[in-house]
Amino acid sequence: MADTKRLTDPNILRHAVLDFRQMSTFVEDPLIFERGEGVHLWDIHGKHYYDGLSGIFVVAVGHGNRRVIEAIKAQLDRLAFPPPLHGTNVPLIELTDLLVRLAPGDLSAVKLLSTGSEATEIAMKASRQYWKQAGKPTKYKIISRYYAYHGATLGAIAAGGTPKRRIPFEPLPAGFVHVPTVHCYRCPMGRTYPGCGVFCAEYLRHVIEMEGPDTVAAVMVEPIGNTGGILVPPPEYLPALRQICDEYEVLLIFDEMITGAGRTGQMFACQTFGVTPDILCLGKGLSSGYAPLSATLWSERIQQAFWGPEEAGVEFGDGHTFASNPISAAAGLASLQEIIARDLPANARVMGERLQAHLHKIGKKYGIFGDIRGKGLLWAVEFAQDPATKARFSVPIGKLIGQEAQRRGLITRYDPDWIALAPPLIVTAEELDAMCAILDESIGVVLDQVE
Ligand SMILES: Cc1ncc(COP(=O)(O)O)c(C=O)c1O
Repeated sequence: MADTKRLTDPNILRHAVLDFRQMSTFVEDPLIFERGEGVHLWDIHGKHYYDGLSGIFVVAVGHGNRRVIEAIKAQLDRLAFPPPLHGTNVPLIELTDLLVRLAPGDLSAVKLLSTGSEATEIAMKASRQYWKQAGKPTKYKIISRYYAYHGATLGAIAAGGTPKRRIPFEPLPAGFVHVPTVHCYRCPMGRTYPGCGVFCAEYLRHVIEMEGPDTVAAVMVEPIGNTGGILVPPPEYLPALRQICDEYEVLLIFDEMITGAGRTGQMFACQTFGVTPDILCLGKGLSSGYAPLSATLWSERIQQAFWGPEEAGVEFGDGHTFASNPISAAAGLASLQEIIARDLPANARVMGERLQAHLHKIGKKYGIFGDIRGKGLLWAVEFAQDPATKARFSVPIGKLIGQEAQRRGLITRYDPDWIALAPPLIVTAEELDAMCAILDESIGVVLDQVE
């Protein structure tokens, strides 16, 4: 049994620096998880929680998955860390081969890494080196979108699109340009879909022309953005980006950290939307969190530019000590095998419909859901005090509801204006119903308090 008194002692806890967290608040009422099974979590006091967020869009196969645990144990017994500059290892070869077989189009090369931030950095570095070696060395700019989150390292922050994540670290690396995101409920350009003709995609064309197409290396987007509240593009949007990138010889990068590994109902969201990028970034659900793992895949054309005689020095110039870690690769391989064996993308589609139906029902009951949006098992509700006018609440309603849900044993992703649910892809109908019942009660309690 955990020594709860010691673990919650503020004098001990204060030494830990947690992600995006004011530690002075955290130490007052710390949440310390101890155990997980399926979609269930327990804290050190034995309190139960439904993991309605898969950790943070990570635990695709659920907690305590035996296939993944046994694969990691077996690999640990065999080999934990071979010399990465001299050779490679068995799980890495198996995982890269499987990823290429699963990926659409001619995405045929895989660089394994540890974190999502590394995967997006490597996508940007590969784009720049590609154009240098493809005879267009002036193409270096990366265009990304406001609202984007591509990670926490400096290059990834430079591509990121929220002031909160950028300003503390400015000045950021040069060579980054931003365009408005796709946000049909609160369009930053004041347009309305479908009458807008997906103007946000067309705007990209304008920006590429004004920057000079010969200076632009790549456009990087999340197929569904998290920040802003699960921003799902209309069907024409990603195909339009693909077409514009092709017209101006610009590489298209999809950051599928959240949407990859079955989350949207296909193995990758690029398949859900029918658009193949030149570079695909994966992480989070790739290993379901059992070990740090991410990956950047790129097309044969890019691979060809990095393939040549030893003396040409054209190989991709990037390395990380833990990039080819066999424990992580074994975890990723087993997690993907589990996703395939149980057809978890199909479960994401079926359970996603059920979740959507629950949200519509709860929305009708309270009349404060301005927008309900999502795909597969990735859904958000944006609150509005008056859905007719889209007027916001004067209180951070999403945060209050998210905190109440947490007190009642449901983990969600929340923000002042919205709340998101993305449970593990193994979730059953009963578990989903129980999660939605907690959300329903939590909204009722919070509305009683604020009204
Ligand atoms: C879309 C997206 N890209 C990149 C990242 C960065 O991944 P990591 O936190 O593993 O570095 C995240 C993390 O939340 C993300 O959501």
